[in-house]
Amino acid sequence: MIEETFVMIKPDGVKRGLIGEIISRFERKLMSITELRMLTLTRELAEELYAEHKGRDYFEKLINYSISGPVVVMKIVGENAIMNCRILVGDTYPEKRVPGSIRGDFSPYLTENVVHASSSKEDAERELRIFFG
Ligand code: CDP
Ligand code: MG
Repeated sequence: MIEETFVMIKPDGVKRGLIGEIISRFERKLMSITELRMLTLTRELAEELYAEHKGRDYFEKLINYSISGPVVVMKIVGENAIMNCRILVGDTYPEKRVPGSIRGDFSPYLTENVVHASSSKEDAERELRIFFG
């Protein structure tokens, strides 16, 4: 089933010069970038994107990291794109990340983890609407 999902290269990914490397991993999995924009998140936008995490002990750290520099936001379209982007991104927790995934290859950290991808159809629709209307 062809799906649309939302992917964001986070500030550490942009600062480290990984934009091309990350985008090419989605493209070579036969997914297409159909919208793309660079911006720096405002605190309000970051809190909207991560609304489900409000109240968690890591929330302030997550928001401060998310607004610490420019990000690249994308709409990605392809076969089972929601699941396939999550697989390419790798696990939330460093100890579960495998080499070959973006986080597995580029981040040993829990918070600073290079990339975001929507985790469900509902999240994908909500997150795409925030950035692409
Ligand atoms: O990004 P992902 O969907 O894998 O994880 P999440 O549980 O939805 O959390 C969103 C983001 O919050 C993560 O990507 C981390 O940057 C951050 N986080 C954190 O700093 N500490 C945690 N215990 C959990 C998440
Ligand atoms: Mg998530």
